[in-house]
Amino acid sequence: MENKIVLELSNVDMRFGGVLALDNVSFQVHEGSLTGIIGPNGAGKTTVYNIISGVYSPTSGGVRFYGRDITALRAYQINRLGIARTFQNLRLFARSSALENVMTAAQNRCREERPAEGYFYGFVESALHLGRWGSVERKLRQTAMGLLDRVGLADRAEQAAGTLPYGMQRRLEIARALALGPKLLMLDEPAAGMNPEEVFALNDLITGIHKDFNLTTLVIEHHMDLIMRICPHIICLNFGAKIAEGTKDDIQNDPEVLAAYLGGDDAEDGEAV
Ligand SMILES: Nc1ncnc2c1ncn2[C@@H]1O[C@H](COP(=O)(O)OP(=O)(O)O)[C@@H](O)[C@H]1O
Ligand SMILES: [Mg+2]
Repeated sequence: MENKIVLELSNVDMRFGGVLALDNVSFQVHEGSLTGIIGPNGAGKTTVYNIISGVYSPTSGGVRFYGRDITALRAYQINRLGIARTFQNLRLFARSSALENVMTAAQNRCREERPAEGYFYGFVESALHLGRWGSVERKLRQTAMGLLDRVGLADRAEQAAGTLPYGMQRRLEIARALALGPKLLMLDEPAAGMNPEEVFALNDLITGIHKDFNLTTLVIEHHMDLIMRICPHIICLNFGAKIAEGTKDDIQNDPEVLAAYLGGDDAEDGEAV
């Protein structure tokens, strides 16, 4: 039986002034899949995430998540439904420890699952100065430590996030996204700035997480080879339009994809969000 459709974009256009950043983009993501999104700089990859995660509403077209129309929802509402992402430009709390960064994300999840209680705990905890001794905090700490361990950062838990080597900061962002307990994980250029050895370890981490958590995952990568190694299903964008979709072999042999990459400016990135 075909897996459930987790995410569906239908004829999405996104216009920024005179720029058509997305041009009639449609695709579906199936439950439990690991899908790559590739395309040259400026192709619209990050804009796809910004539309899905509610940073922008599309100029036209729609987005469904498990059948529900989320096109007009705000970012925090979409986050609560279980869509977590990382950012191409890291968004960590640089002066907080790695552990605190993950705990903050895990805390948001607790509030979402038990809104009234979460609020109540927050209030009582601060009123009584229970702080780190409270059982809620202990549980958060445990969860966060588990995730840090999963991404290979257990021994860096107390280090300020901003002082971690770049590759580790990227993995910390993944732990933060996982702390939300998402149903859909979206990684935006997780390998950016990593050396080949780190990229190799990242491959294992992404495929491992995808398997262990049975987590529907989208990965944007500007570099085709990484995606080719880990993603059974790939979508290729160019100038805002989907030009190809299929298996690694389909993509590798697609003349439009080859032309996009050969013709494109493959320099390192600037992005809007
Ligand atoms: N907030 C924005 N305002 C204006 N233009 C934007 C904005 N976000 C993205 N764009 C433009 O949309 C196009 C696609 O950008 P982006 O989605 O970041 O590409 P990619 O992630 O594939 O490199 C680019 O031309 C970019 O300049
Ligand atoms: Mg981008």
